[in-house]
Amino acid sequence: MLGLHAIQGGIKLAKNILIINGATRKNGNTDIIINKIIEGSINEKAKINLIELRNKKINDCIGCYTCYEKNKCSINDDMKEILVSINRSDMIIFASPIYWWGVTGIMKIFIDRLYFYYSSRNKNLISGKKALVIAPMNMKQDNYKTKIFIEFFNILFDNLELVKINIFFFDNISEKGEILNNPDHIEQAYTIGKDL
Ligand SMILES: Cc1cc2nc3c(=O)[nH]c(=O)nc-3n(C[C@H](O)[C@H](O)[C@H](O)COP(=O)(O)O)c2cc1C
Repeated sequence: MLGLHAIQGGIKLAKNILIINGATRKNGNTDIIINKIIEGSINEKAKINLIELRNKKINDCIGCYTCYEKNKCSINDDMKEILVSINRSDMIIFASPIYWWGVTGIMKIFIDRLYFYYSSRNKNLISGKKALVIAPMNMKQDNYKTKIFIEFFNILFDNLELVKINIFFFDNISEKGEILNNPDHIEQAYTIGKDL
């Protein structure tokens, strides 16, 4: 787990928070963490919008570069409404279990579609928003193993001009719902929500 205190202050100003859930397993550890974050945030003024990628139809980016020529994406799918939610948000929370030291496939497909914002035509729509990452994993977290994951998000956020708040690893959890046996992790999730 990374330090909790490092995020405080950074998060406080966020109002419209968009949570992107990239877990493929329903009611798994990621879902439980997100529920705790929402529970923790209940008395705060934050408005939370949760999008579960597993319930959405999001196609692969086809590299057509329409987003470079026009202010739109050529693909007609659920990403359309998600782009509107992103535009309206002040903070984006990327939640994905670690899969092979990266994100899940559905989260990667979603992130590829954020190429829309990499275009200088559209970057102002995302630039300056806060970003936070939630990452459950079954191994014990150490900086060697999670280096690529951290670097991936650092570069992504730099390129999209997102302001990184923190990356939170929830380690040593494997089975569905196993996080419920780990009070430190549960408290961590609740506190993240409370700090929103
Ligand atoms: C395909 C797959 C790949 C995984 N790769 C990793 C990994 O590289 N490192 C790790 O620590 N855990 C890995 N895990 C374990 C999950 O990150 C862990 O079980 C997590 O708690 C699952 O979250 P969920 O309950 O929300 O699905 C992997 C699990 C699966 C199914």
